Amino acid sequence: MEHPGHGPGAEAIRDYYFGGSGAEATLSWNRRDWDAIELVPRVMRNVSRVDAAVDLGARRIPFPLVVAPMAYTSLLHPRAEAVIAEAAARHGVSYCLSTRSAVPLEEVAEAFRRGLTAWGSVRPRPALSFQLYVMRDHRFSDSLVRRAVDNGYEAIYLTVDAPYIGVRMRDRENSFAVPEEFLSANIAQELEGWVLEESETRFGGGVSSARFSGLAPDPTVDWAGLGDVIALADGMQVFLKGVLSGADLSLAGELPVTGVVVSNHGGRQLDGSISTARALHMMAAELREYQGAVLVDGAIASGADVVRALGLGAKAVMVGRHLARALYERGEEGLDRAISLLVEDVRVSLALLGASRPEMIERSQLRVPSNW
Ligand SMILES: Cc1cc2nc3c(=O)[nH]c(=O)nc-3n(C[C@H](O)[C@H](O)[C@H](O)COP(=O)(O)O)c2cc1C
Repeated sequence: MEHPGHGPGAEAIRDYYFGGSGAEATLSWNRRDWDAIELVPRVMRNVSRVDAAVDLGARRIPFPLVVAPMAYTSLLHPRAEAVIAEAAARHGVSYCLSTRSAVPLEEVAEAFRRGLTAWGSVRPRPALSFQLYVMRDHRFSDSLVRRAVDNGYEAIYLTVDAPYIGVRMRDRENSFAVPEEFLSANIAQELEGWVLEESETRFGGGVSSARFSGLAPDPTVDWAGLGDVIALADGMQVFLKGVLSGADLSLAGELPVTGVVVSNHGGRQLDGSISTARALHMMAAELREYQGAVLVDGAIASGADVVRALGLGAKAVMVGRHLARALYERGEEGLDRAISLLVEDVRVSLALLGASRPEMIERSQLRVPSNW
């Protein structure tokens, strides 16, 4: 794997991508807690036809799978954002592009459309969406949303768990910094001609520290102010990404949003945060009241994980590092295989659980540890 000569080395890139914050407790709990949920299959249910399609708000997608937004995937593989988008679309998996893409969002949309051609007239089709960080200078967020709308992105995932970037020890030790050309690739249009203040402080900036303060996440946003931010989305479907408590799920229910993602950012923000499997389990009461669509992410790597998540009440999952790792270690072919295997595993896992559709999974088919 070649990396830009002046950029970070392979080990620092691996640490940035596959590591987490603090002592990486949350990172390991995410995996541990999916494994702790036992499944109770039902048999003899005629599973000759499995349809894994689900509704995410107004949109039906063929599989309950969305590739999670990950910053600067091109650190792992040249033009990775476009490569992943095309492969995901080809296999019926939806894709959410990060604000911090190293490939302009227009090119990623084009790649996704190329992948979609494999579907011909088959419906439903996978969806393309855009993850938005609310930046201190709201003109950036506004301009990115406009470009996303113009290029066929259907939903905005507004990240609500990152007013600051979590402290990642490995990155600090490696003095890891994202190469400048990656930092500005998706926002070159916005940077042109705008006068920006150089960032005065690295507090909360961490490795993704924006050189310009206007590009750093806006830590002033609160539930009362979220309405204005949602208005930026210009009528697109909005999901709030990064909810971990029943209390916040209830607050989300009062806003005009399509859904939420139960996420701890892959263990990259507050270390010690509850795992997402356990968080989802603990918000069961609020989930019953909640009218929107709930997604979950964090260490999802198999069909068994997906049916566990659906059994706990999620409509779909986001998958991050499992696919990033396949691309990094085994290239485009490895990524293609990993996506197609995951899709097959979801269908087979549904069938073996006795559910020919995701809605048929019963809560009683999951045994969670008694101390949860
Ligand atoms: C390297 C990396 C970069 C990420 N960048 C973003 C980002 O730009 N925006 C965002 O909302 N989440 C980001 N995330 C979090 C993912 O969207 C997702 O919540 C998390 O990776 C899911 O966990 P998993 O990687 O264990 O599947 C990032 C995660 C990783 C690993």
